[in-house]
Amino acid sequence: MLSGKRILLVITGGIAAYKSLILIRRLRERGAAVRCVLSRGGANFVTPLSVAALSHEKVYQDQFSLVDEAEMGHLRLSQEADLVVVAPATADILSKMANGIADELATTVLLAAAAPILIAPAMNHRMWNHPATVANLDLLEARGVARIGPMDGSLAEDETGTGRMAEPEQIVTAIEAHFRQSARLAGLKALVTSGPTYEAIDPVRFIGNRSSGKQGHAIARALAALGADTTLVAGPTAEPDPSGVTVVHIESAREMLAACERALPVDVAVCAAAVSDWRTADTAGAKIKKMGTPPDLALTENPDILKTLCEAGNRRPRLVVGFAAETEHVVANARAKRERKGCDWIVANDVAPATGTFGGSDNTVHLVTAEAVEDWPRMTKQDVATELADRIAARLAPAEDTAE
Ligand code: CTP
Repeated sequence: MLSGKRILLVITGGIAAYKSLILIRRLRERGAAVRCVLSRGGANFVTPLSVAALSHEKVYQDQFSLVDEAEMGHLRLSQEADLVVVAPATADILSKMANGIADELATTVLLAAAAPILIAPAMNHRMWNHPATVANLDLLEARGVARIGPMDGSLAEDETGTGRMAEPEQIVTAIEAHFRQSARLAGLKALVTSGPTYEAIDPVRFIGNRSSGKQGHAIARALAALGADTTLVAGPTAEPDPSGVTVVHIESAREMLAACERALPVDVAVCAAAVSDWRTADTAGAKIKKMGTPPDLALTENPDILKTLCEAGNRRPRLVVGFAAETEHVVANARAKRERKGCDWIVANDVAPATGTFGGSDNTVHLVTAEAVEDWPRMTKQDVATELADRIAARLAPAEDTAE
């Protein structure tokens, strides 16, 4: 049921827009209040009158209506929603969302939205598979936008392929799942570290590593999607900041530790960062010049953030999860690491160059706990994150846990 939930439905210009009329009815039947924004393109496919009649609300169209702005500004419109649903989501709106374009009310509302966003894409299969759409979608998903579909089947103009909008019932199921999921870790605080650290040698050089931050950022997104108040302490990466997450950008291991300590107390900490084990004992104040012989870089050990969190006494998070990046004897090394660091769980991953894990989209992991070792099948880093967040919710909030 969706009683009391406020859904802002953005209808954009695709032939599937007629199904959004059914979606409005299904959502209202389940008790949701549905307010609709019709894009200029959407108005070519469905009339404002039908949308208004079905939603029992005024329909919001282009932002340049002064009367509308006076009645209900675009900011209020986007902020008075528990969930924003874009159905159908055309290739055009995905591109505008990815690029932050606000050229009409629909796009402005999406740019200003504080609530989570769910998209139901619908387009021709060639548009769906175009590298531009793929890149836009990757970016939107990395920022935390959720998606249902598109489905396979017959498309407009007698073509078949992937591009059909999900059926209204499937969208309703996804919306219900969203609300169920987003309550699981509500009221709990999570801390995630992600990416590499850079340890300055001089103002232009540093010691770093190949970590992309993909896995850690995905975990922060997954915990936030379950409703946890999430802080992500991120080293330098190309990953976008996930929406709905407090992101603290740092460079060095010592900065990462300080940011983590400031975030305490939390209920769960997940240390996915590839922290540089060493830094130079002294950072040169000016660029080190070539002097005939290579400089002698004395190294010193960095603080161990995971271990520090585990030993934080009464500030120790209830659940501490570490990662073990290994290139050989993955499980055995991870078991030993779990005991040495004092964490509850270790996610062990094989980062040997042949696996393509560092920088890649997939991961093969083993979940090592005090009781067991689980071998997870190879899956995307996003799926590893979703699965891990699910385990965390089951451990921390089993009573309220309503997930299936
Ligand atoms: N870690 C940390 N601070 C450090 C080093 C590691 O918080 N200074 C955390 C990582 O985020 C990860 C876990 O410890 O969760 C294991 O990291 P890994 O690099 O695999 O282990 P190391 O302790 O560096 O051990 P080794 O390099 O000897 O395998």
